[in-house]
Amino acid sequence: MTDYSARFYKNHARRYSEVAHGLLQSVYIKSSHPAVRTDLDLLERLKELAPGKQGLDAGCGAGARDVHSFWASGFDIRGIDVIEENIRMAREIHPEIAGRVTVADLAGPLPYDDASFDFVMCNAVI
Ligand SMILES: C[S@@+](CC[C@H](N)C(=O)[O-])C[C@H]1O[C@@H](n2cnc3c(N)ncnc32)[C@H](O)[C@@H]1O
Repeated sequence: MTDYSARFYKNHARRYSEVAHGLLQSVYIKSSHPAVRTDLDLLERLKELAPGKQGLDAGCGAGARDVHSFWASGFDIRGIDVIEENIRMAREIHPEIAGRVTVADLAGPLPYDDASFDFVMCNAVI
């Protein structure tokens, strides 16, 4: 991650989280598929496609919106993000998933055993 990106996420974690959660109410102006009109549609489709209940959101972002959504739907989901402020924000606004989100860098070894997950989602990270 560039210094610029890291600085952006550190300085704007709260605002990023507010916007990301607010987008759940928004409808896309243009969509690549008629069945996907909102972020909620996308999340529901991902849940349908998931081959099991154990998942990792790799680069979950400030507030870990999608980790919370999957957890609320009964998934045994975890989230990692390299920016400490992003994880702190997730724990602040979703204390019920505080133990599920962790600071970790995808560029290095992750704090999980091999084959810990049925699926990994990595939205807008790579
Ligand atoms: C555009 S945000 C997307 C967040 C979330 N996946 C979403 O869909 O809203 C990209 C995220 O990837 C994280 N990230 C970037 N490089 C990373 C790395 N090497 N390891 C872990 N997280 C990383 C950033 O900190 C940021 O929170």
